[in-house]
Amino acid sequence: MIKNNQQTKKQPLKTGEKLLFIVAGAFIVLASIAFGIMQYVMATSDKPIFNQYTHYDLNAEGQKGSLIFREAACTECHRAMRGGTNMGNNLDGIGTKRTVQWIEDFLRNPEEVYGHETMDHGPKPKQAYYVGEMSEQDRHLMAIYLSQLISEQGSPSSPVPPKGESPFIDAMVKTWAPDAWKEKYTDIRDKKPSNEGVQ
Ligand code: HEC
Repeated sequence: MIKNNQQTKKQPLKTGEKLLFIVAGAFIVLASIAFGIMQYVMATSDKPIFNQYTHYDLNAEGQKGSLIFREAACTECHRAMRGGTNMGNNLDGIGTKRTVQWIEDFLRNPEEVYGHETMDHGPKPKQAYYVGEMSEQDRHLMAIYLSQLISEQGSPSSPVPPKGESPFIDAMVKTWAPDAWKEKYTDIRDKKPSNEGVQ
């Protein structure tokens, strides 16, 4: 092969290019320092950096279900007890939204329970088809386990919005909720205390 001399010859960097490298380099150094500081603060502070709004208290069946859940590789797609991935829904807190029966029915007949087509659960070739082929007993124990993953008010998985005023939620409702909705529906946050505890 004939080499093109012009291409192989090294060219000195232009000022703009040098500047770009310096800025990118400085950015990486600063990000590394900030990451180091954050890790240090997280390791030494007694205050949690993020509020934890989900919790669990597993009974014996829940613990068995949790084992089956992990062995069945559900965590390849789901997050539960803060472990796993975010490919599918986050299942932390699902117990506040769904009953054991609902979860068990979903695992057996996902599309029927959702009332529309699903992405990964359902018959082959869907990736999570194997859930439908697991034993009734395993699905039952996993449903019990999942129903024990609880979310507190304020968690994204809680059906009840955070306590107190939230300028962020106000701004979102103002921007995105059409006026017709505002007349038709009551803002869940305006509901009277008698409705509190409805989860
Ligand atoms: C290949 C990815 C994948 C795997 C593996 C997987 N899931 Fe899912 N899961 C999803 C997706 C995506 C959804 C949303 C429904 C859909 O479109 O299939 C979902 C929905 C669910 C829901 C309903 C959540 C809700 O509130 O609507 C439950 C419960 C659930 N999965 C449990 C499991 C369990 C238990 C396992 C393991 C036995 C499992 N999943 C394995 C991707 C997966």
